Amino acid sequence: MTDSSELQGFYKLPMEKRRELLKKATSLGDDEIKTLANTGGLPPETADHMIENVVGGYTYPLGIATNFKINGKDYLVPMALEEPSVVAAASNAAKMARTKGGFKVTNTGPVMIGQIQVVNVPKPEGAKAKLLKSKSDLLRKANDQDPMLVSLGGGAKDLNVKVLSTIKGPMVVAELIVNTGDAMGANAVNTMAEAVAPMVEEITGGRVFLRIISNLADRRLVRATAVFEKEAIGGEDVVDGVVYAYAFADADPYRCATHNKGIMNGVVAVGIACGQDIRALEAGAHSYASRSGRYKPLTTWEKNRDGDLEGTLEMPMAVGLVGGAAKTHPAARASIKVLGVKTAIELAEVMGAVGLAQNFAALRALASEGIQRGHMKLHSRNVAISAGATGELVDLVAKRMIEERRIRFDRAKELVAELSKERKP
Ligand code: MEV
Repeated sequence: MTDSSELQGFYKLPMEKRRELLKKATSLGDDEIKTLANTGGLPPETADHMIENVVGGYTYPLGIATNFKINGKDYLVPMALEEPSVVAAASNAAKMARTKGGFKVTNTGPVMIGQIQVVNVPKPEGAKAKLLKSKSDLLRKANDQDPMLVSLGGGAKDLNVKVLSTIKGPMVVAELIVNTGDAMGANAVNTMAEAVAPMVEEITGGRVFLRIISNLADRRLVRATAVFEKEAIGGEDVVDGVVYAYAFADADPYRCATHNKGIMNGVVAVGIACGQDIRALEAGAHSYASRSGRYKPLTTWEKNRDGDLEGTLEMPMAVGLVGGAAKTHPAARASIKVLGVKTAIELAEVMGAVGLAQNFAALRALASEGIQRGHMKLHSRNVAISAGATGELVDLVAKRMIEERRIRFDRAKELVAELSKERKP
């Protein structure tokens, strides 16, 4: 709580001074300020330039998921997130997928859409035709903005124009279709959209307002498949359980939200580790899941002729290796090195495979023993740590709480006191 949130000149101050001001304005103590000041693997000056009003850093655990074989190649997959069980589940699922060769993934290329919104167009359909006639001029203007991208084979490749009927009347929307190469592409696409806007106004006789990338990246899809041998995953009953779980998600948006959340557990964790814009990934995923007008699962699960389980995933995956935190954050750079991916589409493919693995792991657990047993084991360790357990005490306290089926902070505190006394010589 603070008396006033108007911190005059806060943005101009060096980080240290910002922290002093923050301390004065809040009830933070020295230890808490010290915690915030720790920027982990990110140099403070880099952190200070990445966003505004920086006071320090915030660190997630980084885990490495093992066993992934994707398109015949082995990967160690860095995952940064706060949720227990996810890394273990991904590793376990990837291990089971290996029996039938691992994950096969394809992609539709790194293609993004930049939208230019035109209002007050006297003749919308005529304007659409005129815009399409001027396509090569518009694409040239767009490509002039990024000669480097063009020299690498990327750039604005096509123009799509639509007339929308909106609550404010008809609207013309010009869409630049841009191959963004190894970049996620928001900067390149937004620059292009802004650059062509005056031409679009002139051609249409209307007024341009928005010029921005679309996160419904439906031209930048990954498609992952995997076969899970029935013996490797616990038998026919598990196969049936996963297929029924998928059918439930397909029929019901309440279940489907959680089904897709499980996929994003994997996608987002790799995304954070590799310095990606995970808000864009989430927006892309859920808007794609709703493209038919009904919210649908991003994966499908079927039993094949041999009685094995076959899964597919199809979703947008707008990720990049050049620009953004993937380049500036040393931990992201290290994670990308661990993965060993050389292109943005390779990163996208890995993330698609992880999404499919994560979904399989969740559905398998839900359709059999449930997820709480595994979750509780890890959760109990977290509770033990938050109650002050360190070293060997963490596992001892966690174990006792599980045995007693009382995984609670107050019990953990008691056990920490009790067991540390016992262990004193
Ligand atoms: C928990 O983070 C994710 C799950 O709820 C996913 C699912 O229900 O499919 C286990």
